[in-house]
Amino acid sequence: MPILNQTSPFRLSALVAIPALLVGLGGSGASAQDHVGQYEQADVEFGVRLYNANCVRCHSETGDAVAGVDLRTGTYSRADSDAALMALIRRGIPDTAMPPNDFSRAELTGLVAYLRTMRDFDLRGVTLGDETRGHTLFTGKGACSSCHRVSGQGPRTAPDLSDIGAIRTAANLHQSLLDPSGSMLPVNRPVRAVLSDGTVLTGPRLNEDTYTIQLIDQSERLRSLEKSDLRELVAVTTSPMPPATDVLDEQEVADVLAYLLSLKGLN
Ligand code: HEC
Ligand code: HEC
Repeated sequence: MPILNQTSPFRLSALVAIPALLVGLGGSGASAQDHVGQYEQADVEFGVRLYNANCVRCHSETGDAVAGVDLRTGTYSRADSDAALMALIRRGIPDTAMPPNDFSRAELTGLVAYLRTMRDFDLRGVTLGDETRGHTLFTGKGACSSCHRVSGQGPRTAPDLSDIGAIRTAANLHQSLLDPSGSMLPVNRPVRAVLSDGTVLTGPRLNEDTYTIQLIDQSERLRSLEKSDLRELVAVTTSPMPPATDVLDEQEVADVLAYLLSLKGLN
């Protein structure tokens, strides 16, 4: 579980950052999982893909191929909550054909979202993305790699996405693509620092203490600044990232999403 991955210095900053810049970081998210009926479309669609790749050969498309198990019912004798269902899918069921799986949190979220909605979910009109096309768009038309780094390639001026598929859900990522400013995590807010000579530096914050702050500037240089020397120091609340729909159509966004979900920091 590479939650803290060496290739992701930006993630580490979450642990050392001074809370002053982190206003608004609410404890949101996880608890919504316990309520059936609150599943996001992007998670369900990701779940469909995973189900087809990992489960369909035993459980079938309709979910009722294993004797005594009907996945479409949305309720399971061996799991009474989403958390229990995720644990079951990870561990498998010992002494039966149901295998253990090393799924990420995003994958488990997708699978559970799909299982719980399987009975009603209409597969028509779903745009399942293509990971390979997504990779091409990421480095090409989408220009994502002009700001983001993946597996050691690309600049350090935006969050490293090498393990983004392991730490965000499909719905989170989809939202980030459509509305970067609205879904910007406080820890990802770039810093804007104005030096005494008027020079403006903006970029991700790496570290901060009472007297100094370290950031990566526009030219990818690591800058360590004395706060008392600065004319201004603020966390920017508008994302420098354009909405993906500025350059990509709906199918292409789905492709890029599929690619992001494949990034789990393993290579
Ligand atoms: C190799 C065959 C096989 C594969 C692949 C498989 N399963 Fe299963 N699964 C089973 C069997 C067999 C059982 C019933 C075990 C028992 O209780 O005897 C089962 C049981 C379950 C149950 C428990 C149902 C209940 O009512 O408690 C869930 C949930 C489930 N599987 C989900 C999945 C998901 C999701 C995947 C894909 C990630 C998957 N399974 C992949 C064979 C498989
Ligand atoms: C102009 C630079 C720039 C471009 C181009 C850009 N991004 Fe970003 N992106 C950023 C910055 C800066 C952030 C951090 C602030 C934020 O979350 O909005 C970010 C945030 C993100 C996040 C959220 C990261 C997290 O930790 O949750 C994702 C996902 C993402 N970008 C994917 C993409 C994809 C895919 C593309 C191409 C379609 C893209 N970005 C294009 C600069 C950029």
